[in-house]
Amino acid sequence: MKKSDIDAIVDKIDKENSIFKNKAALDVLRTPKRVIGRNKEVESLIRFFVSYKQGTIPPFVSVYGRSGSGKSTLVRFVCESLDDIALCFVNLRSAKTLFECANLILSELGAEALPSAKGLGAVVLAIKDAIASYLQDAKKHVIILALDEFDMIFYDKRNKPSDFMYKLVVLCEQLKKEKNYQLCIVGISNNVVSEYDLDERVRSRIGNSEVYFPAYGYEEILEILRMCSKEAFNEMDDVILQHCAKLSSQDHGDARRAIDLLRVGAEIAGAKNQALSTKHVDQAYAKLQNDRISEIMSRTTSQFKYVCRAIVYLSYIMGLEMAHTSKIYDEYKLIAPKESQLTYRRISEILNDIENTGIVTSQVHSRGRHGYGKQYKLEFSPNFIGPAINSVWWDNLVKMKKQMEESKQYDKEKKLSQSI
Ligand SMILES: Nc1ncnc2c1ncn2[C@@H]1O[C@H](COP(=O)(O)OP(=O)(O)OP(=O)(O)O)[C@@H](O)[C@H]1O
Ligand SMILES: [Mg+2]
Repeated sequence: MKKSDIDAIVDKIDKENSIFKNKAALDVLRTPKRVIGRNKEVESLIRFFVSYKQGTIPPFVSVYGRSGSGKSTLVRFVCESLDDIALCFVNLRSAKTLFECANLILSELGAEALPSAKGLGAVVLAIKDAIASYLQDAKKHVIILALDEFDMIFYDKRNKPSDFMYKLVVLCEQLKKEKNYQLCIVGISNNVVSEYDLDERVRSRIGNSEVYFPAYGYEEILEILRMCSKEAFNEMDDVILQHCAKLSSQDHGDARRAIDLLRVGAEIAGAKNQALSTKHVDQAYAKLQNDRISEIMSRTTSQFKYVCRAIVYLSYIMGLEMAHTSKIYDEYKLIAPKESQLTYRRISEILNDIENTGIVTSQVHSRGRHGYGKQYKLEFSPNFIGPAINSVWWDNLVKMKKQMEESKQYDKEKKLSQSI
């Protein structure tokens, strides 16, 4: 590569960006200046938090829902707007163990991290002291400890997440008894915390203080896009925003992806020196779908892929539009190597994870006296997702389908010739 090649790339990027007045307004990592809608969820959160006035703030609130449904943004916004309450907001995504989670909390509280040799109990004790001095400095008596990406704690298979939660909840009780401080832990995740494997002493202590964030609908996404685009562009045709909102609400209801769609559409138009149109948005939509599937598949586990294969097989080969968990599980057992096959319960959890990526959607269905079950529908074309899971496997599946169609055709022709 020569310097002129670098200059050409810089030129290309400058061109893409020439269409924006302030591109940072479409940065989904920054906290928006204003939040749109979500009145019901905001009220539920405030109800939990202001119960400190009666001394009854819940020790744990589970905030859960689909990606991009505004959970992190709204929890932060609400807490920062309540004057009497201190907030410590920690993103646990980078933590690989419970110990790292605890250390992240500690450093967010302004205390020094502890070496792992000290053990989890010691870090939790240090968290207690750090909360006390945090509240003393802030001259407040109530604190929300918001733990974003809370499900990370359930990935540490060597330690017991239930124990960690127990220690945290006991911390709430101790702070109240010893210092009259009220602590509420908010766990933000895609799945509700009560669905995880927790022991009874934790369950009975955390109760069921939950706030669910459903996916956004058309009107809400449109409003969010209007707000961002006012800052990001000099002018914007509302028809384009409506088109982005329509595609996004039909597909995923994810505000982050809706904003990305508008940004990438504008980049495509900018690169071509054209005014942004719905055609560019369509091109951006196809590009983002492609990128997304490749990205999910590149960072996922082989078990996740086996389950995806089972779903694709049932849809592509068996022609099923919806597949029950039990059907997917049966298919999975034919695909995954015997020695690494997981239990039905684990596969149900993986199906939840797959649903959270938007690859499938689920519907609850009644199984009569056996209670309720879930059935799943693939949200992407198998032609799209199959090659991203495993190209060799997918090529074989395509061949198999072709052979099946040819033999069906052969049978049809045979029957026809016999009837003549
Ligand atoms: N109600 C809203 N008003 C304004 N902007 C919003 C709103 N909800 C979401 N957004 C925008 O969408 C982005 C994604 O939202 P957020 O990060 O809160 O989603 P999330 O539910 O936490 O997703 P994930 O589960 O992936 O962490 C935010 O950075 C913000 O720009
Ligand atoms: Mg979030």
